[in-house]
Amino acid sequence: MDVIVSNAALQWVPSHLDLLPRWVDALTPGGALAFTFIDPFHLSSPGQSNFQWRLERELEKGKITAAEMKDLAGRVQGAKWVMLVNGGDLYIETEEIRHYELDQKKSCYTYHTQEYMKTLFPHAMILPPVSDMKQHCCVIRKS
Ligand SMILES: C[S@@+](CC[C@H](N)C(=O)[O-])C[C@H]1O[C@@H](n2cnc3c(N)ncnc32)[C@H](O)[C@@H]1O
Repeated sequence: MDVIVSNAALQWVPSHLDLLPRWVDALTPGGALAFTFIDPFHLSSPGQSNFQWRLERELEKGKITAAEMKDLAGRVQGAKWVMLVNGGDLYIETEEIRHYELDQKKSCYTYHTQEYMKTLFPHAMILPPVSDMKQHCCVIRKS
């Protein structure tokens, strides 16, 4: 395969980074894998990070309270990656994610910082979001 592209989808798939080596293996030499990811701290709106934007949506939906929103925003500071499940279950750089039955998991957002992506994929190209999108793009070329 010459090119594999995933746009605005993987952030909902837990542990999706574990899938990537298999996809890179499937590429022909010179091919590329491109996928988007969301940096929690990137300011897509003036003065508001992607993670804060998500928390506000969860607050609007009544999934979290204003006090929980403040707490969650404080807890993610400095994290390399975070996962937010069902509005208020926050996992920070930990593999100890509790098991959810299919009908228990209503939402799941995974966030990775650009710095973390660079440490995982030092040879990848990290492209900034376009227009009002909140997602960066990581391009990994197979040599
Ligand atoms: C914003 S849309 C992007 C669709 C398409 N890739 C595009 O660029 O137009 C997100 C897509 O992710 C899919 N999706 C959401 N959760 C998923 C999951 N856990 N596993 C696989 N796909 C999922 C949705 O069905 C939806 O089609």
